[in-house]
Amino acid sequence: MQGILANMQSLLYLVVLSLGLLAAAESPISPYSLHEKRTHIPAGWSLQRRHEPTSALPLRFALTQSNIDNIEKLLMDVSHPESSNYGNHWTAGQVIQAFAPSEETISAVRNWILENGFEEERVKVTSNKGWIEVDATTEEAERLLQTEYKVYSHASGKNHVACDAYHLPSHIQPHVDFVTPSVHFDARLSRRSDEPARSVGKPGYGSAPKTTGQVDAVEISSTDVSTCDEYITPACLRALYGLDYTPVATAKNSFGIVEYTPEAYLQTDINLFAMNFSEGLYGVSPYMVSIDGGYAQTEYQGFDYNGESDLDLQYGMTLVTPAQQVTLYQVGDMVEGASFNNFLDALDGSYCTFEGGDDYTQDAMYPDTEPGGYMGPEACGTATPTYVISTSYSYNEADLTPFYTARQCAEYAKLGLMGVTILYSSGDYGVAGNDDVCLNPNGTQTADGTMFNPTFPGTCPYITSVGATQVNPNSTVYEPESACEQVIYSGGGFSNYFAMPSYQKEAVDYYLANYYPDYPATMWNSTGMSRGFPDISANGANYVVAVNGAFELVYGTSCSTPVNGAIFTMINDARLAAGKSTIGFINPTIYSTDFSGLFNDITMGDNPGCGTNGFNATPGWDPVTGLGTPNFPKLVAKWLSLP
Ligand SMILES: *[C@@H]1O[C@H](CO)[C@@H](O)[C@H](O)[C@H]1NC(C)=O
Ligand SMILES: *[C@@H]1O[C@H](CO)[C@@H](O)[C@H](O)[C@H]1NC(C)=O
Ligand SMILES: *[C@@H]1O[C@H](CO)[C@@H](O)[C@H](O)[C@H]1NC(C)=O
Ligand SMILES: *[C@@H]1O[C@H](CO)[C@@H](O)[C@H](O)[C@H]1NC(C)=O
Repeated sequence: MQGILANMQSLLYLVVLSLGLLAAAESPISPYSLHEKRTHIPAGWSLQRRHEPTSALPLRFALTQSNIDNIEKLLMDVSHPESSNYGNHWTAGQVIQAFAPSEETISAVRNWILENGFEEERVKVTSNKGWIEVDATTEEAERLLQTEYKVYSHASGKNHVACDAYHLPSHIQPHVDFVTPSVHFDARLSRRSDEPARSVGKPGYGSAPKTTGQVDAVEISSTDVSTCDEYITPACLRALYGLDYTPVATAKNSFGIVEYTPEAYLQTDINLFAMNFSEGLYGVSPYMVSIDGGYAQTEYQGFDYNGESDLDLQYGMTLVTPAQQVTLYQVGDMVEGASFNNFLDALDGSYCTFEGGDDYTQDAMYPDTEPGGYMGPEACGTATPTYVISTSYSYNEADLTPFYTARQCAEYAKLGLMGVTILYSSGDYGVAGNDDVCLNPNGTQTADGTMFNPTFPGTCPYITSVGATQVNPNSTVYEPESACEQVIYSGGGFSNYFAMPSYQKEAVDYYLANYYPDYPATMWNSTGMSRGFPDISANGANYVVAVNGAFELVYGTSCSTPVNGAIFTMINDARLAAGKSTIGFINPTIYSTDFSGLFNDITMGDNPGCGTNGFNATPGWDPVTGLGTPNFPKLVAKWLSLP
C-alpha cells in the first residue's frame, strides 16, 4: 500500500515535472513586442467608440511561409543554364508543399493561443495551412494581442473595427505575418456602378496602346516588307526577327494572353485582320478562360475598349500560326474590374491566401454585389497556366506598397518554378510612369514630378520585361532598329523597391561602368544595387491593327510584348517536340554569355520622360531596350542545345 502510494506520488511528481518542463520548452516566457502599428486613420473615417467587450471578433493569424527567403535560389536552380537541374520544373503540388507554413510555425502559434485559455475546438487551422482562425470576443482578443479595439465609421455609413497597434510575444512574432482584424483599413466601400470598370486594380489604366488613327487611304501589302518603316505587319516582324517556323508540338502547347474586362476583342476584327494580313486566321478564336466573370463584352466599343485585345490577339495568334491554340485569360467583370492578383489567384489556389491574401484596396473581391456584378465565387486555382503568359498592362511601382509588390513578385517566381515564362510590357512613357507622371520626394506622382517613375511588374526580378523599338524612318527591316521614339517611348530604368538580381549584375554593371547616366542621385535609383529593366524588346511602332472594322496604326510596348511571347512559344514548341522541358523563367538564360549575344543589340535612341532625355540605348544591356530584340533562328538553335 505504502509502496504504491509512494510510487503514485513520484509518478505524479514526474507528471508535474514533465508538464512543467514541456511548458517551459514550448512557451518560454517571452515579452510582448509591437507587431504592427498604423500611423494615421485613412481619409473619410472617424473614431466612434471602444468596441463592446463581449462582441464577437473573428481573429485570423496569417502564418509565415516556409522557404520564401530561398525562392531566388530555388528558381535559379531550375532556370540557370549552368545548373544541373536546368528545366527540372516543379509541379503545382510541389510549389504549394515547399512554401506552406511549417508544422513548427503552426504548432507554435496554436499552442500559444491554447495556453491563453482558448478551448481546442475554437482554434482552427485552415485547410491550406496558411491561417489560424479563432472566433474570440473583443475582450479576449484585446488580452491576447495587448491592444484596444475601436469602431470607426465612414462618411458612406460603413463601420469598421480596428486597433492602432497590437503586440505579440517575441517567440511568436517570427511565425506570424499579421493578424486581422487589426490595424488594417481594408473595409470595402461601395463604388459607383454607373460606369464600366476602369478603376479597381487599374492594370492598364494609362498603359493602354496609343493610336494615330485610321489608315484607310492606303493599301498595305501583306507580304512585301519595303514599307515596314511606316506600317508594321506580321510579315515585317517575321523578317525583323527571323521568325519563319511551323509549329509541330501544338497539342502540347498554348500561348496565354491576358486581358482585363472591359477591354475585349471583337471576332469581326480578327476576321478583318485575317482577310488582309493573316491567311488562315479567318474565323479562328482564342480559347477563352473566363476568370472572375470575365467575358468578351460588346456593350462598349472603340479603341479604348478593343484596341489592346485586338492588337494582342491579332499579332499573337498570327505569329504562332493559326495551327497553335492561343489561350485568352479574360479577367474581371464589367462592374468591378480586376487586378493582376485576381488573375494569379486563378492560376494558383494557394496564392489566394498567401501572406494574407489579396488587398481590398487594390484587388477586386467577388462575389460582386453591385448591380450587374459577377456573383460567382472568386476564382481560386480554377485556371491552368500556359507555358508563356503575355500581359500588356502595368502599374507604376509607386502605385503599390513594397509589401504588395513583393508578395506578387514571389508569385511570379513560383510560376517560374513551374516552367512558365511571364512577360510584361515595360510602359510607354520612357523614364516616366504610366500617364506620364513622375515621382515627387514625398511619394506623390504628378506631371511635374522630377524623379523617374518605374513601372511594375517590370521591376519584379522574376518576370521578363519587354521594351519597344522602331524601324527608323526610311530604313528597312535589314538595318538596325532604334529605341522607339514615335508616339511612345520605351519604359525603362531602375526599381526603387527591388534589389538587382544576380543574373543581370554583370550586364548592368557594364552599363553603369561605361555609360553612367549623368543625372543626380535625387532623380533615379543610382545605387547600382537595384533591378534594371526592361530585359528585352521588340518593335512597338506603326502596327496595323483591325479595330472596330477599320485599320488603325498602333504604338506601344503593348505591341512588343505579345510578339516576344509568340517567339518564346515557338521556342517551347521546338523543345517540346524534342522531348525537352519548356524554357520557363528565361532571364538567367538570356543574360548568360552564351545567349546575350543572340539578341539584336539596339544602340540608338533614348527614352525621354520627367523633363529629361531619359537613358540612352547603348552597346550591351541598357535601361531602354534591355539586351535587344530576339534573333529567332539563333535563339531556338541555342535553346535546343540545352538539356
Ligand atoms: C485590305 O484589303 C482590301 C481589299 O483588298 C483593300 O481594299 C484595303 O486597302 C486593305 N487595307 C489595308 C490597310 O491594306
Ligand atoms: C508632395 O509634393 C508635391 C511636389 O513638391 C506637392 O505639389 C504636393 O502638394 C505634395 N503633396 C503632399 C500630400 O504633401
Ligand atoms: C525619308 O525620305 C523622304 C523621301 O525621300 C524624305 O522626304 C524624308 O525627309 C526622309 N526622312 C528621314 C527621317 O530621313
Ligand atoms: C534603390 O534601390 C534599392 C534596391 O532596390 C533600395 O533598397 C533603395 O531603397 C532604393 N533607393 C531609393 C532612393 O529609392
